[in-house]
Amino acid sequence: MKRKIIIDTDPGQDDAVAILMALASPEDFEILGIVAVAGNVALAQNARNALKIVELSGRTDIKVYAGCERPMRRTLVTAEYVHGDTGLDGPNLPAPTQQLESQFGVDFIIDTLMEHEAGEITLATLGPLTNIAMALVKQPRIAERVKEIVMMGGGCFEGGNITPAAEFNIYVDPDAADVVLRSGIHIVMAPLDLTHQMQSTPARLERIKAIGNRAGDAVHAMLIFSERFDLQKYQWPGAPLHDPCVIAYLLKPELFHGRHINVVIETASEHTIGMTVADYWGVTGRVKNVQFLRSGDADGFYDLICERLSRLP
Ligand code: BDR
Ligand code: CA
Repeated sequence: MKRKIIIDTDPGQDDAVAILMALASPEDFEILGIVAVAGNVALAQNARNALKIVELSGRTDIKVYAGCERPMRRTLVTAEYVHGDTGLDGPNLPAPTQQLESQFGVDFIIDTLMEHEAGEITLATLGPLTNIAMALVKQPRIAERVKEIVMMGGGCFEGGNITPAAEFNIYVDPDAADVVLRSGIHIVMAPLDLTHQMQSTPARLERIKAIGNRAGDAVHAMLIFSERFDLQKYQWPGAPLHDPCVIAYLLKPELFHGRHINVVIETASEHTIGMTVADYWGVTGRVKNVQFLRSGDADGFYDLICERLSRLP
């Protein structure tokens, strides 16, 4: 049966790959909407990027909304130094012709959840959790209606990528992450521990290029652009590919391995703010709230990406 999903995102080259995979999978997903949030770059640019991605895929039946333009309580931190000034540097994508929906993205999330039966809708989150937390604050009853949240964010054994302790999506809005992780909703977390294994090596990038369609060419150009920062930083054979882990998990959970654990968010400490404090060894006795994906089959993951991208124009 098709899974009904809402994608919440700050695209972002790796967000774009994730969204394209979802758009290429109509037999697996009914995409109820894509909601942009401030993160990698400012909200208006992220929303524009989401429209460009939808148009690249030819799926202009999918509606795009704009959500929150800043974190709940803090100043927005962005990452142009990774993603470029547009947030989606690399390919030369045409200006979008599709318009954003006029409804506020947070209200779209609330209304859609309230209109559906409990347990019908999955939230796939690829950026800071501001929109989801704001929806939970405004209408707490949505918590019991969400089937699950599959999110990219956090890290444990790998540490952080924006500070030694924090991963970017959580660091940008730790208060939002705190609200979401305390909500009681079942959460599947794709942390850096997993995404650092999914490296876009030259051979894998060549496979994407060899698909030979418009989407494959665009993704190749995106990843060539976005990897330069990480290649220098980590000195690995390829850059980590984060957000597609969320969609790959929804499509093929058997590619991933994890453990059900408790995770809480550090929201106060100067040096560790935004840290996902993951009780991997079960030492606290706190309630288990997260399926923490620690490892995955990288070859199977790239096979899936190539197979889905090859379906697109
Ligand atoms: C996350 O941060 C963003 O830059 C990426 O799109 C991904 O969602 C990785 O830390
Ligand atoms: Ca992202």
